[in-house]
Amino acid sequence: MVTLGVNLDHIANVREARKTNEPDPVQFAFLAELGGADSITVHLREDRRHIQDRDLFLLKETIKTKLNLEMAATEEMLQIAKKVRPNYVTLVPEKREEVTTEGGLDINADKEFYAKFVGDLKNSSILVSAFIDPDISQIQSSQEVGCEIIELHTGSYAISKDQEQKNELMRIKEATFFASDHNLIVNAGHGLTFQNVEKIASINNINELNIGHSIVSRALAIGLENSVREMKTLISKN
Ligand code: PXP
Repeated sequence: MVTLGVNLDHIANVREARKTNEPDPVQFAFLAELGGADSITVHLREDRRHIQDRDLFLLKETIKTKLNLEMAATEEMLQIAKKVRPNYVTLVPEKREEVTTEGGLDINADKEFYAKFVGDLKNSSILVSAFIDPDISQIQSSQEVGCEIIELHTGSYAISKDQEQKNELMRIKEATFFASDHNLIVNAGHGLTFQNVEKIASINNINELNIGHSIVSRALAIGLENSVREMKTLISKN
């Protein structure tokens, strides 16, 4: 069965829009688990635009499922990961000016660096996943540097249409089969929605899907009416 990792970065985005203490991703992790989340994913960015260090430590203490920490391969993040000890780390590329993660990690570019970085995490008993494009050479390099897991970037599939989308789906399928034949655990994510997820979920050997934006958007849609109703009741009391 495909499992679901729920990415809570957008909950923290709303909090950081006011620099206050609500909504709290720690509380929302509890709700996500009630809904059936199999893991909780957060991306601690270098610029701390959404998730904060405090969120990570509290999530590690309180969640009942697994913590997946997305992070860039930097010395600062390595030290934080060693302290928090999430169940696994997903290494992602990170650019300050980007709105969200663009493209997969280029492991081919510096295998020596990634081998050392992945080795350091594994020495702290943290499983390591690499967020990569569905590309055979990136899969091979991820395995060579010691990753046990890969997360295939579904962004191009998500934004394409018609024949192009079919081609992207085929690329993801082929990459999944190649990676699982080589004993890698295959996760996938980015841009998945209620409309486009099923074809990805039905690929044999996909282990986990990581989804954030669409789940949080839907939560607003199905929750706003009740929230307004509660506020209306409160102000109509007198
Ligand atoms: N996987 C990775 C590696 C990501 O960086 C993100 C976005 O933070 C996601 C999955 C989830 O993407 P989305 O928010 O589009 O569902």
